[in-house]
Amino acid sequence: MATKKALIVGATGLIGGYCLQALLKDPAYAGVIALVRSPQPTTHLKLKTVYARFDNLEPALAGIEVHDVFCCLGTTIKKAGSQQAFREVDFTLVLTIAELMRKKGAIQFLVISSMGADKNAKVFYSRVKGEMETALKHVGYPCLRIIRPSLLLGSRKEFRLGEKVGTLLTPVLQLLLRGPLGKYQPVQAEAVARFMVMVAHQEPSSGVHVYESDMICRPKGMKRQKDQK
Ligand SMILES: NC(=O)c1ccc[n+]([C@@H]2O[C@H](COP(=O)([O-])OP(=O)(O)OC[C@H]3O[C@@H](n4cnc5c(N)ncnc54)[C@H](OP(=O)(O)O)[C@@H]3O)[C@@H](O)[C@H]2O)c1
Repeated sequence: MATKKALIVGATGLIGGYCLQALLKDPAYAGVIALVRSPQPTTHLKLKTVYARFDNLEPALAGIEVHDVFCCLGTTIKKAGSQQAFREVDFTLVLTIAELMRKKGAIQFLVISSMGADKNAKVFYSRVKGEMETALKHVGYPCLRIIRPSLLLGSRKEFRLGEKVGTLLTPVLQLLLRGPLGKYQPVQAEAVARFMVMVAHQEPSSGVHVYESDMICRPKGMKRQKDQK
């Protein structure tokens, strides 16, 4: 009988929307809580939607206790308005949620990072993602799973030039980016979300696990990279 509960943040986003659907279909979860700031249209017997002010999360999280946290949050520098505002979401907010939920007993934290995440990267976006990953490793989750997709494919209302170009070039990129270059191939947001939910059940269920983008498209026989804190 399913007993586990999951919290999802970012459920109104591209990956998050698919992740929410995958969680609701997953018999391992008895309940799913979606923490949102904007309307989330899905309804389901297993789903509880909690509206929150993300600058003051503690009251919204009161009484929420889950085993697994799925974090699909993120913004872009353009949308956020500045590098600092981007960092507030992709670093600070992710870390705040991780810390608050760990204090409430969450065991596993799964997060969407990005290909090339590296705390020493020259590119600001990759550096913030790398810093976020490093900081999460110190929060003390028994199990931390970091997923690093490459360029996302999928339909969204908002226009994003990089994604549009990636979509148009996908047939060519699939031919060119093979073998060790496979991780640079664009990846469907839906596949990322399904992968995220699938690895939540994988053994070992402790430690830090990093999944590169090419593993998302070929989960069978995938290699896992395990980092030590
Ligand atoms: N786009 C790519 O090609 C790409 C590639 C690799 C990795 N990634 C990473 O993948 C992750 C998910 O990307 P996505 O494209 O699925 O994201 P998305 O569609 O832009 O959705 C982002 C989610 O985060 C929420 N969010 C953003 N700012 C927030 C704030 N200040 N307070 C509360 N919630 C906030 C949004 O809520 P609202 O709906 O309320 O705004 C939404 O639910 C991100 O971390 C991104 O960096 C993206």
